[in-house]
Amino acid sequence: MKKLIAGNWKMNLNAQKASALALDILKGLDDELPLSKVCDFVVFPPCVHLPPINQVIKSSEMKMALGAQDCSQHETDGAHTGEISAAMLADYGCTYVIVGHSERRQGHGETDAIVKAKAAAAHNAGLTAVICIGETDQEREQGQERDIVSRQLLASLPESSNAVNTVIAYEPVWAIGTGKTAKAEDVAAMHALIREKLSGRSGSSQTPRILYGGSMKPENAAELLATPNVDGGLIGGASLKAEQFLAIGRAVRDS
Ligand code: 13P
Repeated sequence: MKKLIAGNWKMNLNAQKASALALDILKGLDDELPLSKVCDFVVFPPCVHLPPINQVIKSSEMKMALGAQDCSQHETDGAHTGEISAAMLADYGCTYVIVGHSERRQGHGETDAIVKAKAAAAHNAGLTAVICIGETDQEREQGQERDIVSRQLLASLPESSNAVNTVIAYEPVWAIGTGKTAKAEDVAAMHALIREKLSGRSGSSQTPRILYGGSMKPENAAELLATPNVDGGLIGGASLKAEQFLAIGRAVRDS
């Protein structure tokens, strides 16, 4: 399966800069050996920018996919002020949605149960859910990282999950936006554990892709993306610069 290179733009960029970034990425996907032949690309702009970015992507032969950074756990239209349903996201051309990012688990009190409900809502709307899991530095210092990640994984996966409609993103919280990247051997160990849990759960060797996220950039991407069981990257800061985001794709192509 192709590696998935995913850009989480978080709460950044005005409308004009967001469209310009999407255009620059799309232009870059057509270089000497088209990067979209070797990797799948998806970007996750802030919600308000989804309609214009959807237009930009549509006018470029859909060389990358569109995703949202969150969705509501509620599936039926109604009195949920501020919420956006997965079905609304699908209407705007999204095929992916991130759920359970640590910035939402920590900053917005999202529990595994909420994340699971959001992932189920995503599946019911035909979206692929990118379910994020990862330990804090304190949990790692206390040697709890395997227990925490296993618990988050199994408690956040809805029954509807399969290898196609789900992607797991392992993002150690201490590596997000800090410049501290997990060591390749630690990433390998955690991804092997996640893979084992996923195949144990489904009883099949066909499991969701597992992305690594946390300070991934062009300089460390080749090593991280060549690590066993790493099926791609969920990239924050470096996805806001087209050249850096594309360079991460090139790291896959040229390895
Ligand atoms: P950084 O790449 O900025 O560390 O962010 C990672 C992340 O949180 C992606 O979801």
